[in-house]
Amino acid sequence: MASPPKEARAVAEDPFIPDLGLVPSGEHGMDKRDKLAVDYEDKGEVEVPMSAMASLSPSLYEHVEENGRTYHKYKEGKYYLPNDEVSRTITYQACYFVLTNSSNFSQSKRDLIALYERLHLAPLKEDNVKHALDIGTGTGIWAIEFAEQFPQAKVIGTDLSPIQPEFVPPNLSFEVDDVDDDWVYTHPFDYIHGRLMVFGFLDPLAVFRKAFNALSPGGYFEMQDLCSPIRSFDHSLDGSAMIRTSNLIIEACQKRGIDLTVPKRYKEMMQSVGFVDVKEVIVEWPIGTWAKSEFHKRIGAWFKKDMEVGAEGIIMGLFTRLLGMSKEDVMIIVEDVKKEMNDSSIHAYEPFYVVYGKKPE
Ligand SMILES: C[S@@+](CC[C@H](N)C(=O)[O-])C[C@H]1O[C@@H](n2cnc3c(N)ncnc32)[C@H](O)[C@@H]1O
Repeated sequence: MASPPKEARAVAEDPFIPDLGLVPSGEHGMDKRDKLAVDYEDKGEVEVPMSAMASLSPSLYEHVEENGRTYHKYKEGKYYLPNDEVSRTITYQACYFVLTNSSNFSQSKRDLIALYERLHLAPLKEDNVKHALDIGTGTGIWAIEFAEQFPQAKVIGTDLSPIQPEFVPPNLSFEVDDVDDDWVYTHPFDYIHGRLMVFGFLDPLAVFRKAFNALSPGGYFEMQDLCSPIRSFDHSLDGSAMIRTSNLIIEACQKRGIDLTVPKRYKEMMQSVGFVDVKEVIVEWPIGTWAKSEFHKRIGAWFKKDMEVGAEGIIMGLFTRLLGMSKEDVMIIVEDVKKEMNDSSIHAYEPFYVVYGKKPE
């Protein structure tokens, strides 16, 4: 096998990132193909424990109901994805799983899994984190975990939708807020985090600038996001309903000024607003259990489940509101996509970008 690309070695040398064999930055050569080798004898043996989808108690808040799904109403519904129980469970659980739930893996998976015990990759030191902010906190699950891991920190989670649970650690509070508004906080933060925000980013560069200004010197900003479109290493997506739909989702979001491909530019954007020591790690999320490694199989099982349950919600809102499709047309697309997701000859994945940088001291 060829030696790892230069940048991969540089990242692996970072004491906070063990050598996972992950390709950190835009390298899609043969090395990567080895990492994500296709297991054609997919036996679909990975279970997704549905108990982990345990939903939060429904909140009473202003919302809009459309085609059987719920959307937030604050700010005239500027966020186009649903915020109901179905939508707020699995993707978040997939990230949560990838980043925190390593005990579910068998011990045979090298040190690779160790990274994913963390809620963050930024090299935070417990004593240095007095104030933390989670933008677009959604279910608040990440913020709850973080507040528990950093009990000495005061943590704020913000979102357009007040869907977070009531009973949370005492050092955590939630606020309804729009990241596009001015950030008015009474103190600087030592860590700012945003996960799966790309659908909500009208102007990510402006948000990154606000994060930079809201941090104390030496503080870290971290983004974790999936980067559209879905892709495959072996052309098995060519001509599929899945890739057509992925591209239509990008097109619909473009009409709203949202660029779903932007996570691949988070690194340069962070650098451009002044962050230093910016690191980027990419984790492929297969859709389904076709990939060879147990690690990727696990993520793939979650991600497919997420898509099966969540795709309709994402597509329905976007395609009816922005592409003028009927509910019936969207349902046909959803069914085609669901069928393909269970076809193990299609090897689709989406890259998950984790990018973090430091405000200079
Ligand atoms: C896909 S969810 C991710 C939630 C959470 N970060 C996680 O990873 O579990 C995106 C969240 O961002 C919120 N959001 C979208 N646009 C926003 C904005 N302009 N300001 C604040 N929150 C926003 C949505 O309401 C939604 O809860």
